[in-house]
Amino acid sequence: MTRWASRRSQLRVDAPRGLSRRLVIASALLALLMTATFLILFGAITRLRDAAALTGRSEEVLASSSRLERLIVDLETGERGYIITKDPTFLTPWETARAAVPQEAAEFRRLGTKIGGEQGKRAGQISSAVTSYLQDFSVPLVTKVQRQPGVSAAASVADGQRRVDRIRTDFDQFMGVQRRLTSRYEQHSLEASRRAMAMAGIAAVASFVLVFVFTSYLTRALVRPVRRASIMAADLARGELGVRMPETSLGEIGVLEQAFNTMARSLEMSHDKLRRVADEQAALRRVATLVARAVSPHEVFEAVAAELGRILAADFIVVNRFEPDRMETVVGSWKAEKNPEAAPPTGSCWSLEGRSLESSVERTGRPARVTDYQRATSGIGVWARTRGVRCGAGSPVVVEGRLWGVMIAFSMSEDPQPEGIEVRMTEYTELVGTAIANAESRAKLTAARARLVSASDETRRRIERDLHDGAQQRLVSLGLELRAAEGSIPDGHDVLRQRVAKTASGLSGVLEDLQEISRGLHPAILSRGGLHPAIKALARRSVVPVELDLHVARRLDERLEVAVYYIVAEAMTNATNHVDASVVRIHLHLDEDVIQMAVEDDGVGGAAVGGGSGLIGLKDRVEALGGTIDVRSPSGKGTSLQVRIPTWTA
Ligand SMILES: Nc1ncnc2c1ncn2[C@@H]1O[C@H](COP(=O)(O)OP(=O)(O)OP(=O)(O)O)[C@@H](O)[C@H]1O
Ligand SMILES: [Mg+2]
Repeated sequence: MTRWASRRSQLRVDAPRGLSRRLVIASALLALLMTATFLILFGAITRLRDAAALTGRSEEVLASSSRLERLIVDLETGERGYIITKDPTFLTPWETARAAVPQEAAEFRRLGTKIGGEQGKRAGQISSAVTSYLQDFSVPLVTKVQRQPGVSAAASVADGQRRVDRIRTDFDQFMGVQRRLTSRYEQHSLEASRRAMAMAGIAAVASFVLVFVFTSYLTRALVRPVRRASIMAADLARGELGVRMPETSLGEIGVLEQAFNTMARSLEMSHDKLRRVADEQAALRRVATLVARAVSPHEVFEAVAAELGRILAADFIVVNRFEPDRMETVVGSWKAEKNPEAAPPTGSCWSLEGRSLESSVERTGRPARVTDYQRATSGIGVWARTRGVRCGAGSPVVVEGRLWGVMIAFSMSEDPQPEGIEVRMTEYTELVGTAIANAESRAKLTAARARLVSASDETRRRIERDLHDGAQQRLVSLGLELRAAEGSIPDGHDVLRQRVAKTASGLSGVLEDLQEISRGLHPAILSRGGLHPAIKALARRSVVPVELDLHVARRLDERLEVAVYYIVAEAMTNATNHVDASVVRIHLHLDEDVIQMAVEDDGVGGAAVGGGSGLIGLKDRVEALGGTIDVRSPSGKGTSLQVRIPTWTA
């Protein structure tokens, strides 16, 4: 059985059949009334037809009666005329009547039999009397006179007259009665036709009223609700999910209205659910974007707390980090706008001692929930109780497999928090865990880079000091000794003196070279005087002209100064070595907590980080200090280095 078929059979069982029953009853009533009307009409028409038939028969019998009477009169006057005058012309109508009488008498008898009753009997008697007069009296008399023209027949004529008078008297009586009967039949027929017309009129009006009532009922019970349902279905289709039908109709239409409302409600619920899921996904995406952009963990904590608070309709959210001494620190918090109370402040520390949601999470590493804060004794638990919090749900924050902290959603509502809230929190705590792990990895990487740069700077400084204190001092001593030796060469040894003098000046040259190398390794002027004099010294020594715009009013951390110095030095060297720049512009500006610099030349451009070790070394240095370096070198348009280094990281 298909799904629809089974649903239909279920509807057949479940749905009230009131409307169908009413429709069936109304239709049956209408059919009954129509049938009754037609039966009555049929009866009236039948009666009308019977009355008309009776009238017709009566008129026929009357007509036959008068024809027969005329024939008997013709017989009698014919025979009388012939007998008195012996004129055979009198026999012409007699002959005609004689020929017609048997047939007419039989017809009269037949019609009499048809109408029956007294009149029928009377018709039979009259018919017999006429036939008898013809056969037993008139024909023998005329025959006798024809045979014996001289015979006296005056008595017979008078007898015949008497007999015909008697028959005519019967005829008169018969026709008088029959006329009265005919008039009564006509009256009946008229009445019957009037009755039939009245019945037809009543039936037509009753049918009209019934059809009208039936149609109005159908309109009210069926058409109107169905039209209303179709309008509301159109509204629903347009997205107005709040439309509801008044559940006032009976039977199946009532069921339809209820089903429509149920459908609208479930559509609305599904729509709400979908919107909630979409909101959750959007919130997760926003947090994930923050994590991917590697913003500070603090920013991620605050964003997660706010997003989760809105999604769960919580009153407070806290993100806490577990500390080693059974303490916890609030690292992110949020409160609903309607709450006058503030959330636990970021940075505040709370004890984990006592039975609490956080200590349960800390102990088990699993989500936990508190349904009643009345007996809370832990630090955050007491805070929650005094703020009117009724229940809370917590989910652990795990960073690379180790339990790091807990995120808690507090609710002040009397209703328990929905099932599965911890699972919904898990997706956010996972993102928090990832953000923390990323931040930790980044911090480790930066520290490692900083250590490498520091180690290399330290090595350079040591070599510079060794050169300064060792090789340079010895060269200076050797130079002095050679100058002394030169002075002590006796005259006459000019060649030797010149050689020694040349060696001494060569030694000075080596010393200068060594000092230059030392400056390159670690500029002593930087340690002594700071960025200002060190950069000026660099500019002085530069082959390419340099324009300086320096705004550094104070000394900075040595690592920062060394980095800035090397950036300027490398930019100048590159401008000299790789391009035919006519000028190098150096702009340095120290703000409260960031140093910004721009080094630009007007060379051919095309510089690439990674082409040698210079620019990439600068990148390492700057990033090790938490800064950024941006190299822009479009072909033919010169090169610029834009650098920003926070001063607080150094
Ligand atoms: N100011 C500049 N103008 C044009 N091209 C440059 C500029 N600075 C560097 N370049 C190009 O970029 C490459 C990379 O520079 P980088 O300083 O990293 O290496 P290098 O100067 O070649 O070698 P190193 O600095 O290790 O002695 C260079 O080889 C050069 O081709
Ligand atoms: Mg270089």
